[in-house]
Amino acid sequence: MGRFKRTLGPAVPIAGALALWIVAVATVPAATTPAAATVTTGTQAPAQVNGYVGEETCLTCHEAQSYKGTAHAFAADERTPAATHGCESCHGPGQAHVDGGGDKTKIVNPKNLTPREASEICTTCHDRKEHALWSGSQHDSRNVGCTTCHSVHTPKGPKQLKEATEPALCVKCHANIVNKQHRFNHMPVREGELVCTSCHNVHGSANVKLLRAGTTVDESCTSCHTEKRGPYLWEHAPVAESCVTCHDPHGSNNDRMLVAKQPYLCQRCHVTSRHPPTIYDGYLLKNSSNANKIFGRSCTICHQEIHGSNSPSGKAFLR
Ligand code: HEC
Ligand code: HEC
Ligand code: HEC
Ligand code: HEC
Ligand code: HEC
Ligand code: HEC
Ligand code: HEC
Ligand code: HEC
Ligand code: HEC
Ligand code: HEC
Repeated sequence: MGRFKRTLGPAVPIAGALALWIVAVATVPAATTPAAATVTTGTQAPAQVNGYVGEETCLTCHEAQSYKGTAHAFAADERTPAATHGCESCHGPGQAHVDGGGDKTKIVNPKNLTPREASEICTTCHDRKEHALWSGSQHDSRNVGCTTCHSVHTPKGPKQLKEATEPALCVKCHANIVNKQHRFNHMPVREGELVCTSCHNVHGSANVKLLRAGTTVDESCTSCHTEKRGPYLWEHAPVAESCVTCHDPHGSNNDRMLVAKQPYLCQRCHVTSRHPPTIYDGYLLKNSSNANKIFGRSCTICHQEIHGSNSPSGKAFLR
């Protein structure tokens, strides 16, 4: 109870009823998973029971709000058990609203709730699998809610998104990241081969940065680039540590989305080495022709197996 009280003002009685009703819905086990279709088959909403009037009644006045053909068309959907109430699944019992001839103070409009309050309506059903880790996730905790990204009645994109594509949605808040798609080398998001959510689960995850796979950045990368998973006979320390030490996962202006050009990339760490000299060594050994050989050349011309080697003589990642 009371979880909607903070901001609602005059609508508190309705919100209070909503909160009670949410508790009731939430305690119906597995009420909305497709698998539950075998458990319950009825589709009739319990009209006139507990203040519910049923979808048909709502649609006598609100035809425009119909969501026929969308995922929330409960009545027509065999997968949906009778425990749901069509419109009233999200708007709460509508009897008082109807009796009042459409009194808008007597019906819940999620638009008037805070994002988090609106999310609580959605998570009465969407609380499993993809959504199991929503509560307290980065978006939830910053008051970015389900209805910030989704529109049940007037979506513009797939999955009822408020924008036609993911980048168009994410750019509203993550412009710096989305704009990396315009860099010379980038993950093929712009080309449609990947979407932001290929790597991220915006609904919450067990990994850092809402990464979808694994529990470390590396596990996320190697969920697709399996050949880089290792373990190798000869490990290159930074590879085992984090791929993003050398790569920008969103895009960069260097080859292979590297965070710096070669040889500078390597020389961030390998400031001096016995062989061959780095440009810094070269600077010290004035006139060293060795130094000039390396300058401007890629270390990986020779150190080809830079992610690690399985060759017995691969200690220097030459093979
Ligand atoms: C007798 C006609 C009628 C019926 C039946 C009806 N409504 Fe309404 N509804 C209205 C009117 C009129 C408004 C107010 C429109 C306005 O003032 O903009 C309204 C407003 C709403 C609003 C917006 C409230 C707000 O704060 O802006 C929602 C949500 C809503 N109705 C949902 C429902 C649902 C769900 C049902 C079925 C349980 C339903 N209505 C049944 C007439 C009806
Ligand atoms: C899955 C949840 C859900 C279902 C089911 C649902 N609605 Fe809504 N409804 C919303 C949300 C969320 C909003 C707030 C506006 C938005 O985010 O698009 C809304 C807004 C509205 C509004 C107000 C529109 C406005 O611009 O303020 C009306 C009226 C309405 N719904 C009627 C209905 C009717 C009638 C049904 C059944 C045919 C229905 N809703 C089913 C979630 C739902
Ligand atoms: C009464 C249960 C229920 C409630 C409440 C509910 N949903 Fe759903 N939703 C479903 C079902 C059932 C489906 C279809 C099966 C699935 O995708 O899980 C669905 C599907 C969806 C989809 C996928 C659409 C697609 O085209 O694949 C989105 C997005 C969604 N819901 C968002 C919401 C949002 C946002 C809210 C809260 C405003 C909400 N839902 C509230 C039951 C519900
Ligand atoms: C930051 C934006 C964002 C927020 C916040 C968000 N979603 Fe989504 N949602 C997406 C995107 C993007 C997709 C499509 C990619 C995917 O499935 O992950 C999606 C997909 C879905 C799907 C379809 C999943 C499927 O398996 O097909 C459902 C259902 C859904 N969201 C419900 C919700 C609910 C419920 C909430 C709140 C608890 C929510 N979303 C919050 C952006 C968002
Ligand atoms: C309405 C604004 C908004 C939208 C739209 C939005 N986000 Fe976010 N996102 C945030 C906020 C705020 C945070 C929390 C940032 C923080 O904690 O520094 C966040 C956090 C994240 C994080 C985790 C960052 C971290 O440091 O852990 C990722 C990943 C992310 N969003 C991806 C996405 C993707 C992908 C989309 C589009 C599908 C999206 N977001 C849409 C506002 C938004
Ligand atoms: C190939 C996988 C991949 C794709 C595709 C991807 N990301 Fe990321 N994203 C990552 C990784 C890995 C990190 C963590 C980087 C780090 O820790 O430095 C990250 C971090 C983030 C962060 C947190 C940034 C920060 O500074 O902490 C946001 C926000 C984000 N991504 C949004 C997006 C958006 C929006 C898209 C779509 C345009 C997208 N990502 C596409 C892998 C990806
Ligand atoms: C969802 C799958 C997926 C994930 C996760 C993923 N990638 Fe990729 N990556 C791709 C695809 C698809 C391409 C483009 C196809 C190609 O050129 O092989 C690509 C391309 C690349 C390239 C450029 C390859 C080239 O030949 O230019 C690099 C470098 C790369 N990824 C590194 C990473 C890193 C680092 C991570 C983790 C932060 C990561 N990837 C996570 C799918 C993924
Ligand atoms: C020490 C820096 C460094 C780290 C850490 C690193 N890479 Fe790379 N990666 C490179 C360099 C340099 C290249 C370009 C090699 C070339 O030009 O031949 C490259 C190329 C790639 C490519 C494209 C070419 C190919 O070999 O397939 C992919 C994919 C890739 N890296 C994925 C990863 C993944 C996944 C991780 C983490 C497990 C990772 N990288 C960690 C330096 C690094
Ligand atoms: C983030 C720091 C970092 C970056 C960037 C980096 N390395 Fe390394 N590298 C290391 C560390 C740490 C070791 C292990 C050193 C040791 O065991 O003494 C290592 C080991 C090596 C070795 C084997 C050394 C030996 O003694 O057998 C070679 C060869 C090497 N790196 C080449 C490169 C090349 C080429 C690049 C650029 C593509 C590069 N490294 C980028 C940190 C880095
Ligand atoms: C012309 C081929 C070639 C190029 C280019 C090259 N290396 Fe090497 N590097 C070698 C060979 C061969 C060895 C093995 C030497 C040995 O076994 O003693 C080696 C060994 C190393 C080692 C391990 C031994 C040590 O000296 O610490 C490091 C680290 C290293 N190189 C870094 C780099 C870096 C960084 C670059 C780019 C600035 C680079 N190399 C460019 C051929 C090359």
